[in-house]
Amino acid sequence: MNNRVIEEYKQLLLQNKAWVEQKTLEDADFFKKLSKIQSPKFLWIGCSDSRVPANEITGTKPGEVFVHRNIANMVVNTDMNLLSVLDYAVNVLTVEHVIVCGHYGCGGVRAAMGQQQYGLIDNWIRDIKDVYRTHYEELEAIADLTARENRLVELNVIEQVYDLSKTSIIQSAWKKRGGPYIHGWVYNLETGLINDLNVTYHSNSELPAFYRLMID
Ligand code: CO
Repeated sequence: MNNRVIEEYKQLLLQNKAWVEQKTLEDADFFKKLSKIQSPKFLWIGCSDSRVPANEITGTKPGEVFVHRNIANMVVNTDMNLLSVLDYAVNVLTVEHVIVCGHYGCGGVRAAMGQQQYGLIDNWIRDIKDVYRTHYEELEAIADLTARENRLVELNVIEQVYDLSKTSIIQSAWKKRGGPYIHGWVYNLETGLINDLNVTYHSNSELPAFYRLMID
């Protein structure tokens, strides 16, 4: 590593020390309290994009949001990482809300609209192409490509919320405790504002019968 690269990396550790000092100044017991218990009310499923940090954009503190992030905020039903996070958040932490948060200008969504090969990731974003196919007529009717991409971002979030509702984890929790609520949001990189897509579910009654699991 050259000097500049080393300095950049060391800077993070220096900033960590400064952050600890600031937090301790505000509240001497900050770390003591936080280390005792974790009881977040929210599970955040967001994009890995560095510009969409869950805590910062929602004004929440450490301890308030349980977070899972992947490229293009996908809920893939064979993803053990996502399923493990979801199971732990819903059944152990008993979160009250699960939020899928996408963002306009998402590189994963943009890549899914094109034909270029990127490598391994082509398999990951294939599911977004399937969202496009599901909503083909609506999307093709939008002539402006940015507007079309923005709509695909929204539809992708809606489909991921829908995919959450299809999981046995969510359906069992709904049966058992009537929660959590699941929501779909889109973050706007240019304004910093979150757009609530108003796709909130807390029961499987809106799913077609073949998705509704018999849970005893
Ligand atoms: Co993204």
